Amino acid sequence: MTWWHAVVESEHEIQNPTSADKIRLLGRRLGLGPDSHVLDIASGRSGPATVLAQEFGCRVTCVERAPEFLAAARERIEEAELADRIELVEADAATFELRRYDAALCLGATFVYGGLVPTLERLRGAAPLLGVGEPYWRSWPLPPEPDSDADRRTAEDDWLPLPETVERAESTGVRVLSLIASSEDDWDRYESLHWQTLDAWLAANPGHPRAEEFRARGAADRDRYLRWERAVMGWAILVCRS
Ligand SMILES: C[S@@+](CC[C@H](N)C(=O)[O-])C[C@H]1O[C@@H](n2cnc3c(N)ncnc32)[C@H](O)[C@@H]1O
Repeated sequence: MTWWHAVVESEHEIQNPTSADKIRLLGRRLGLGPDSHVLDIASGRSGPATVLAQEFGCRVTCVERAPEFLAAARERIEEAELADRIELVEADAATFELRRYDAALCLGATFVYGGLVPTLERLRGAAPLLGVGEPYWRSWPLPPEPDSDADRRTAEDDWLPLPETVERAESTGVRVLSLIASSEDDWDRYESLHWQTLDAWLAANPGHPRAEEFRARGAADRDRYLRWERAVMGWAILVCRS
C-alpha cells in the first residue's frame, strides 16, 4: 500500500528540518575523518550519510527499514560513487545488533527505540560520540486550541522545552557537548517541500484510491504548521559524549 511518507518525502535530500551545512558542522563536531566509522540509525534516503562520506571520507553504516527510501539511497550512493564508503543495511533498527563505531547517529527517529532516553541508553554503548536529532518546544506552555482547553500535544509526543530536553538526555549519563538547532528557514524548507511534493503526486495520480485521504491529510498538516507549529516547534541535533 502506498505509504504517506514515501510520497511526501520522495524529493527530500535530508528528511529533517536541517541542512547539508549543518550536517557538515555535525561531522566537524564529531571529529570525523577518513578513518572514522559512523552508524546512522534510520538513515532514510541516506542524505546525511552521503554528505558526511563526501565531506570527511568516513565510512557510514546506514540502517533503514523502508524499501522506498533504501531504493533512493542506493541510487544516490551509486551516483555519488560512494558505494565503497556507505553500507546500507535493510533492517528494523530496533532489533539491529550494534557493534562498535566512532560515532552513532539517530536523526529524527528516536521513536524507533521508544524516545530520547532509550535511544541514548541503547547507542551510548556503541560509540564514544553520538548525534541525536530531537524535536523540542520553543515556547511553553503551548498555545491552547481556539475555544477549547485541549492540550495540543498528541499521545505519542512528550517533547519538552530545550533545557529540559538536554536534562533528559543527560539523565542517561551522556554529556551534551554541542547543539545544532534548526532555523525557521530549515523548518519552512522541510515542511513546504511536503506540500509541493504532494501537490505533484496528486496531479499525477488523480484516481489513486488514497488520493482524497492524502489531500485531506496534507491540508490539515499544512494548516497546523502555519497556524501554530511554525511558532513553537524546534528541532536540534544534540552532540553527546557517551
Ligand atoms: C524523519 S526520517 C529521517 C531520515 C534520516 N535520518 C534523515 O535525516 O534524512 C525517519 C526515518 O526512520 C525510518 N524508520 C522508522 N522506523 C524504523 C525502524 N524501526 N527501523 C529502521 N528505520 C526506521 C523511516 O523509514 C525514515 O526513513
